[in-house]
Amino acid sequence: MCGIVGIIGGEKGTNVVPELIRGLERLEYRGYDSAGIAVIGNGIERIRSVGKVANLRGKITDAMVGDLGIGHTRWATHGKVTEDNAHPIMSKDVAIIHNGIIENFKSLRFILQTEGYVFESETDTEVILHLLQRELLKGSSPRQAMSNVFKMLDGTFAVVAMFLHFSDTLLAMRHKSSLIVGLGKESMYVGSDAGALSDSCEEVVYMEDGDIVEMHRTDGIVFFNTELEEIKRRRHGVTSALVNIEKGEYPHFMLKEIKDQPNAIRNTILHNGIDKTLLDGISNILILACGTSYHAGMVAKYWFEKYLKIPSIVEIASEFRYRSPVIQEHTLVFSISQSGETLDTLAAIEYVRSNSNCSTIAVANVKNSATARASDIVFYTQAGVEMGVASTKAFTAQLIILASISFCHNDFLMDKLKEIPTLCEDALDLAPEVEKIAHIISKSNNAIYLGRGMMYPIALEGALKLKEISYIHAEGFAAGEMKHGPIALIDDQVPVIFLCPSGELFEKTLSNIQEVLARGKNVIVITDSNGEMAFPPDVAKIVLPTIQAEFAPILYSIPLQLIAYYAAVQRGTDIDRPRNLAKSVTVE
Ligand code: M6R
Repeated sequence: MCGIVGIIGGEKGTNVVPELIRGLERLEYRGYDSAGIAVIGNGIERIRSVGKVANLRGKITDAMVGDLGIGHTRWATHGKVTEDNAHPIMSKDVAIIHNGIIENFKSLRFILQTEGYVFESETDTEVILHLLQRELLKGSSPRQAMSNVFKMLDGTFAVVAMFLHFSDTLLAMRHKSSLIVGLGKESMYVGSDAGALSDSCEEVVYMEDGDIVEMHRTDGIVFFNTELEEIKRRRHGVTSALVNIEKGEYPHFMLKEIKDQPNAIRNTILHNGIDKTLLDGISNILILACGTSYHAGMVAKYWFEKYLKIPSIVEIASEFRYRSPVIQEHTLVFSISQSGETLDTLAAIEYVRSNSNCSTIAVANVKNSATARASDIVFYTQAGVEMGVASTKAFTAQLIILASISFCHNDFLMDKLKEIPTLCEDALDLAPEVEKIAHIISKSNNAIYLGRGMMYPIALEGALKLKEISYIHAEGFAAGEMKHGPIALIDDQVPVIFLCPSGELFEKTLSNIQEVLARGKNVIVITDSNGEMAFPPDVAKIVLPTIQAEFAPILYSIPLQLIAYYAAVQRGTDIDRPRNLAKSVTVE
């Protein structure tokens, strides 16, 4: 979603324009549809553009120079994708960028318009600009203006502002939208995530809700609360993992990340010893997550109930808080989030914390991310930075953490877990075959994914991945539910992908395959070396190595990711930045 970068150059006269553009390029992975920068040079100068940062870069001339500036990638919420709605939003002497949503913007806009303020965009952000302007006119300092405006806003916001007449100062404020201050050798930075600042910063400070920061070129950085009382915030070293993330030999981050999985899984197993007492006295488990992470939670529910014998429920985090759920005592609450910044997941954790004394565990891929900081315990997936919008290696690494907890009392399975990276390597070797099979899918406008038991959430995940990257309409169903409705969709065109590992539910899934074959012809089966003989020779097959049944969800995810990837390549979509999607979903 929207990305923020702000820079104060170390010395007066240092041109920050190139670094602002680099910062925006590093934010591209979050997903956006327009971009812009503004600097203080000869007055405030601004350039904005619809589409990629490359378009913006193309519009910038050598004449645009400034030693302090802000940049933004916008993922449209209020107002269409137009240059007028792109940030920075500015007046003659104030420019701002904003992530989040101002929920009371309509009433504020009305008040400001009746006072004569003229709006040039359709954005909710513009009310913040005019409110700041109004405070300055009343005689407030920029710091006082930020604090006064903070109190007028409802919703979520990370805002960075610069003021023409205070040309050494950037001000920023945070309420439920991530904002990080970075300290370089000479320059100072503010960004929506550490990735935006990484190669320039030695230390970062994670702002908290209610924080305002004033960054001054020579006087340094001071944090305040909304009462303008000074507060202390801890500085963290920047991890080298964030630096220089390149595609290397791969055409897309997504393919690189799919292929990274054996290592991501190995590292996640190595780094996460589970303390068995974690589960002492626990009578229920509640899992909160969105999207792909929710699918990881669905698999975990099977594992937790079968192996830990603890009743477990998994909830879509974006729905959870709105049904006023009752949280029983002795419930252990998991949140799962790759980014650790998903607003709905964070809000669900906050609901748990305000309505119970239950312990919260975050499974996250990003160090010190919001869900990690909001929870009692954190398990970090060691997937490394995931740049592709489609979550792949973070998903299988989440499954590894959840498996390690589920099987912590079972030495046999814990041992078997260590075999997964090698089996994943074998699965990745099938990429050329999967690429051929993807042709069946890329020619179609629809696809159906079916699986039983633990393969049901993986069918949902396979369908989500295909939708996200190739824009082909895909649905996942529990295979046993076919005859209760979805079977009406079967004709001799629609590709139907069955997840059918040998084991307990093999025969039952086989019957469902027969039911589909009787009505259509485009069946693709993903099975293993023990199961493959059961299928007629004319059925398209992907044959994976045989794996311990409990771990099949991890291994079977790999061909589904590859199917989505190759189908998208064949359709020519923008794989790492699919339309309308964002990597960190920081609004509701
Ligand atoms: O960062 P999170 O894991 O909390 O993100 C949740 C979803 O937005 C995310 O999984 C989304 O579905 C991805 N685009 C999946 O590929």
